[in-house]
Amino acid sequence: MEPIPFAPADAPAWVALTNPLLGRQTTPEHLLTEDERERLSLRWVVYDGERLVGVARLGSFAFIPPDFLQASILVAPDHRGKGIGSRLWETVQQALPAGVRGLSADVADTDPQSRAWAERRGFGLHVHRYTSELDLTTFDETRFTTDWDSLHAQGVRIADMVGADADTEARLVDLIAELLTHTPDLAGLPRWDAEQVRKVFHMTQDPHPEWQLLALEPGGEWLGLTVMVRYGDMAHNKFTAVLPQARGRGLTLPLKLEAIRRAQSAGLRVMRTNNHSENVPMLAVNRRLGFVPQVGKWEMHWER
Ligand SMILES: CC(C)(COP(=O)(O)OP(=O)(O)OC[C@H]1O[C@@H](n2cnc3c(N)ncnc32)[C@H](O)[C@@H]1OP(=O)(O)O)[C@@H](O)C(=O)NCCC(=O)NCCS
Repeated sequence: MEPIPFAPADAPAWVALTNPLLGRQTTPEHLLTEDERERLSLRWVVYDGERLVGVARLGSFAFIPPDFLQASILVAPDHRGKGIGSRLWETVQQALPAGVRGLSADVADTDPQSRAWAERRGFGLHVHRYTSELDLTTFDETRFTTDWDSLHAQGVRIADMVGADADTEARLVDLIAELLTHTPDLAGLPRWDAEQVRKVFHMTQDPHPEWQLLALEPGGEWLGLTVMVRYGDMAHNKFTAVLPQARGRGLTLPLKLEAIRRAQSAGLRVMRTNNHSENVPMLAVNRRLGFVPQVGKWEMHWER
């Protein structure tokens, strides 16, 4: 049961092993296209006879320092404690390209054993993040009329990017890149370039200008934004931000409400959002809207 390099023919067994353990719905095709899009993506597999029982991946990832790589090691629950994880970890370390300063690895916050395993290998806790979910089939916006009233009393309106010209689109991309540097997630990391923003926000591969929403002052000045993408029938509210001078005016909740309306009218069933456990204002808005926290992740870091 030694690690061997991944081949495309392993993709169906890979997703069959990892999807239930990670709560994902990735397809084998998506796995392969993901590899093509990334700057670096290396994978290994361990078989017990015909059965895939362990996997590891080493790849680039936009939300970690540029000289870090993302590492994932996963062993089938009935094959743990037999040294498979350790052998995959050795393989990952041997494959580390020069110039890589460290690794980031996610562990489910319900799995202290795996966290302890990673800590014994030199990983330390960096940040706790979790996903929250909102059921769009039962969401009732009537509770939030006072939030709309307050928005309208300020003369603020919410507009989308449908029909926007190239300059306006570039301005949105630039504002997203700017405001991302204000999030606890990317604080201290380099500003993303336009290509990175377009990729992460699906602007090229699945553009939905009707899900790129802006809060506008009566004179047209931009105050804040929210951007949503989709994965199957799930809406992902990727990013919501208000410019520093417009914070404290109650703009976030109506921006998200408008995204929820649009997700509902597109027939999407659930909305997800990811939160940094220290992002207090955003967590408060999500709680008021009725988002329910799901299993979270401990992001663990290891340095060479
Ligand atoms: C974390 C995880 C990968 C560990 O996999 P594993 O196959 O159980 O790992 P190992 O068997 O190599 O290590 C488990 C323990 O069993 C020991 N062990 C038991 N039998 C062994 C054997 N025959 N040979 C070597 N080690 C053995 C190991 O020494 C290790 O103990 P240690 O941590 O005190 O050194 C696995 O629990 C998992 O898939 N978790 C979910 C995903 C995750 O969170 N991954 C971590 C972040 S990348």
